[in-house]
Amino acid sequence: MSDEATRYQEDVHTPTEVANPEAYPPRLVKSYPGAPRHPLPWPPERAGHRLGRLLADLGGITRAQWLTPLDMLPFTDSFEAIPDDDPLQWLVTRRPTPSGGARYSAEWYVLAGPDSGVPTGVHYYDPARHDLVRLRSGDYRSWVATRPAATVLVQTNVFWRLAAKYGEMYYRLACLESGIQVAQALAVAEGPGAEDHTAAARLCFPDADVTELLGLDAREEGVHAVVELLPPPVPSAFGGPSLAAFPLAARAHAAVLAQSRPGAEPLRAGADDGGGDATVRGGEGEVEGEAEAGASSASASHGARPRVDLPHAVPDLAAGARTRHAAMRGFSGAKMSAGALATVLAAYGQRARWDLPADLVEFYCVVADVTGVPSGAYRYHPEEHQLELVSEGDPRQRLREAALAALTQQGARTGNLWLLPVGDAEAAEERFGARWYRVQQAAAGAALHRACLAAAAIGVASRIQNDVLTHLLDAWFGLEGRRRSLLMAQFGTEHPAGPRPEFRLTW
Ligand SMILES: Cc1cc2nc3c(=O)[nH]c(=O)nc-3n(C[C@H](O)[C@H](O)[C@H](O)COP(=O)(O)O)c2cc1C
Repeated sequence: MSDEATRYQEDVHTPTEVANPEAYPPRLVKSYPGAPRHPLPWPPERAGHRLGRLLADLGGITRAQWLTPLDMLPFTDSFEAIPDDDPLQWLVTRRPTPSGGARYSAEWYVLAGPDSGVPTGVHYYDPARHDLVRLRSGDYRSWVATRPAATVLVQTNVFWRLAAKYGEMYYRLACLESGIQVAQALAVAEGPGAEDHTAAARLCFPDADVTELLGLDAREEGVHAVVELLPPPVPSAFGGPSLAAFPLAARAHAAVLAQSRPGAEPLRAGADDGGGDATVRGGEGEVEGEAEAGASSASASHGARPRVDLPHAVPDLAAGARTRHAAMRGFSGAKMSAGALATVLAAYGQRARWDLPADLVEFYCVVADVTGVPSGAYRYHPEEHQLELVSEGDPRQRLREAALAALTQQGARTGNLWLLPVGDAEAAEERFGARWYRVQQAAAGAALHRACLAAAAIGVASRIQNDVLTHLLDAWFGLEGRRRSLLMAQFGTEHPAGPRPEFRLTW
């Protein structure tokens, strides 16, 4: 154990006691008394206002949910423990993104330039009023941007909101949630209506400079990610004949261009969705129990372990952002189709437009009762769009034993798919130094959120669960050294008693 992040990961597996919860203010949004404000149009009024729409889709207070006292039961396990002094406590506001304990630690800031559609300057996005609070005038994009971005968004986490409930575990959740925020930003920035725009994120940037620019106290609010909204592309002119025959001149010219800006990571294409029908491929031996609807016969082997070819799938993350919510009552226990499994997994392993390597996490999962796929623990290989069997057998009892809360245990009994991204601390630390923990957790959070969005778009329910002793499951996956599963999300058909009355305020 070489550094503080490593010690933290080894020691903090569950929330720690919060000695004095009263010491923390109730969950308020930030305020900047006296600072100038710029109202943003609500998306239904002017859906074409890119920034107004994007910020609502990211951090806005966009949903009102009517709960009942009984909704607390899976968390309290007794009627006596349910607080009943305020009847309005059952009307809750929600955001587009999930958040541990609905504590909503994430904040967004905007570095606006002349083409941002709002006054040039540094702004705080106030989700309660859907407006921008100007913290500085002037164009500060070049402090942060590595490419000619029209607007730069900065994502932070207010630590005390999580610490008030989870103690030391606040840092883990903040890191996971920054990945979720970035995944949401990339999904909604590039969704329908934004075809001519792109966005790219960075989790490695000059933290101290950005913290200072936003006027934050780094001990209270951490700057975790930057999202660059790129200007619309210019139409291409006729190119002329190829210069490929003159590589020396081309390299000399490229070298000058490379020095002209700090290096940006090249933007990568989306996930390779793979293709073909659901097929279980024999490894050393053929897999038993396959070949229901969608699955075809066994074919060539891929190394020692059996592999499952998944059907071609094209997840629609932006569509999922309109309906995503955390499942409230577990799942119905109905079978899941191979197509639904393939869609969720394709999003899980999809490459993000950011500065982190694609292999920062590995995409492990557990499957039960999916048509054509034997129940068991698997590793998903995004490039091949295949599942590699790690351990066969019904996983539900084992999942249940690792789950801490009644709701999570219920999900273990009734879900069909559990995603558990795995990170290698050793490799990440070597590559990222002290930042390794933060970026690895973010990659895990982002992978799960992408999967939840893809699931919502096809009517599959989901819930991210932190209250699972994931280290108890690591042996199942055969993890060795400092490889660990980092977080879990459950998926299945929503329990008929699950949906709650919910008003969407922007659609
Ligand atoms: C990092 C993270 C950890 C979470 N952990 C749990 C958990 O341990 N148990 C649980 O029931 N829900 C968990 N959730 C789900 C949240 O409670 C849920 O997102 C929140 O109540 C808001 O509801 P919504 O997702 O419908 O917007 C977690 C969510 C996130 C993002």
